[in-house]
Amino acid sequence: MTPDIIKLIDQEFGPAFSSRTPEDLKEYGKDWTKVHDPDPLIICFPQSTDEVSRLLKLCNQHGIAVVPSGGRTGLSGGAVAAKKEVVISFEKMRKIGAVDELAQTLWCEAGAVTEAVHLAAKTHGLTWPINFASSGSSTVGGNIATNAGGVKVIRYGLTRNWVLGLTVVLMNGEILKLNGSLEKNNTGVDFRQIFIGTEGVYGVVTEAILKLAPLPKESEVFLFALKDLAKVFELFKTVRRVNFTVNAYECLSDECLHVVLKHRKLASPFSDSHPYYVLVEAEKPVDENWLQGLFDSGLVEDAVQAQSPKEAQNLWAMREGIGESLAATGLMHKHDIALPIARLQEFIENWTRDLKTQYSGIMPYIFGHIGDGNLHVNLMKPASMDVPEFRRICTQVDQNLFAWIQKYEGSVSAEHGIGLLKKHLLCYTRTPEEIAIMMKMKTVFDPKGLLNPGKIF
Ligand code: MLT
Ligand code: ZN
Repeated sequence: MTPDIIKLIDQEFGPAFSSRTPEDLKEYGKDWTKVHDPDPLIICFPQSTDEVSRLLKLCNQHGIAVVPSGGRTGLSGGAVAAKKEVVISFEKMRKIGAVDELAQTLWCEAGAVTEAVHLAAKTHGLTWPINFASSGSSTVGGNIATNAGGVKVIRYGLTRNWVLGLTVVLMNGEILKLNGSLEKNNTGVDFRQIFIGTEGVYGVVTEAILKLAPLPKESEVFLFALKDLAKVFELFKTVRRVNFTVNAYECLSDECLHVVLKHRKLASPFSDSHPYYVLVEAEKPVDENWLQGLFDSGLVEDAVQAQSPKEAQNLWAMREGIGESLAATGLMHKHDIALPIARLQEFIENWTRDLKTQYSGIMPYIFGHIGDGNLHVNLMKPASMDVPEFRRICTQVDQNLFAWIQKYEGSVSAEHGIGLLKKHLLCYTRTPEEIAIMMKMKTVFDPKGLLNPGKIF
């Protein structure tokens, strides 16, 4: 018989610790995906690692499943609670400690918002260089659990590069303090990495010591217009050879630009349309000869250079606003894939050719962190097609897409994670042996299988 966990939580922590209002159940049981209806049992708001530990221990004793929930900006259903789970919100664990200027580190709790961490570090001339459109709502715990990527990976790498220490709570309530603030610590298994990017299935991150970087120097932002995909990669080759620091190399197709301009009511920076655009952010001073060479060689068709921080922000909005604008425009079928950069152009050409031949009515919206080999491929439901038909076609399109990904040794999830949504795709990128090991590891950390169940595998 299922024990009355609600009563037990109330007895242990008092009534203010949790909520069961319909609004909260709906809000805290979901992320940005709209595929599964949230249906959690109760939402808990611990204020410390100790409270998380006591809560997990209680749920473990009574066989109750738990879902950790950060800023709920995920795109793979990794934080969705759809089966009467206990949700742990980190909303009351947002503390950010003092910046250690000597070590260039900062301690914070899992619920600290990414942007708040940036602000805390900025006053010391430092930054936590993990950055994306959802920085205003995503949390450090969520970023760590998903090994978040974003728009600056080409310069700084992924979240895992910027985490020194972790406090993790296991399902039985055990608290692990991993690595402290050590930069170097060669003493066997680096347990931190087991909890980074594994979407909370092995343990719950409650605190972190983040590694900071010097604030980047003032930058220039360019938006280049290009006549075809080949030019996107030719331009990237020139960027690989420049003698200044490139912070971002982001690509968007004309279809994406149109959707974002319409949704955000922005004016196009170009008088004509072009098949592709590339946003380059680079530290000043940018080599004028490089810039001039792009025009002299006919590599770029047109370009705008932001003349002020406001203009730079507007150019960035045209790239960072795509996901939100597509979601507001229609029903999307989203993919977040990675390919070896050297094979990405050939992959896109082959796959889009297949798509056009098989399903000419379905338009691919292509954008992403092309400099990292990370492409966001979104398919939008045509207005004339009903939802079941669209889903059916997407399933077929996916088979072809994943066959190409496998052929080119790519990944079915570059940065959004696997969660609930991409579980069935894991086998295209990971071998059965690897998946079996992941599952065996689960039995070590969470033998009853109660922590974020159903996610990843
Ligand atoms: C982005 O790079 O804008 C995202 O990861 C969001 C998305 O794919 O919707
Ligand atoms: Zn992205």
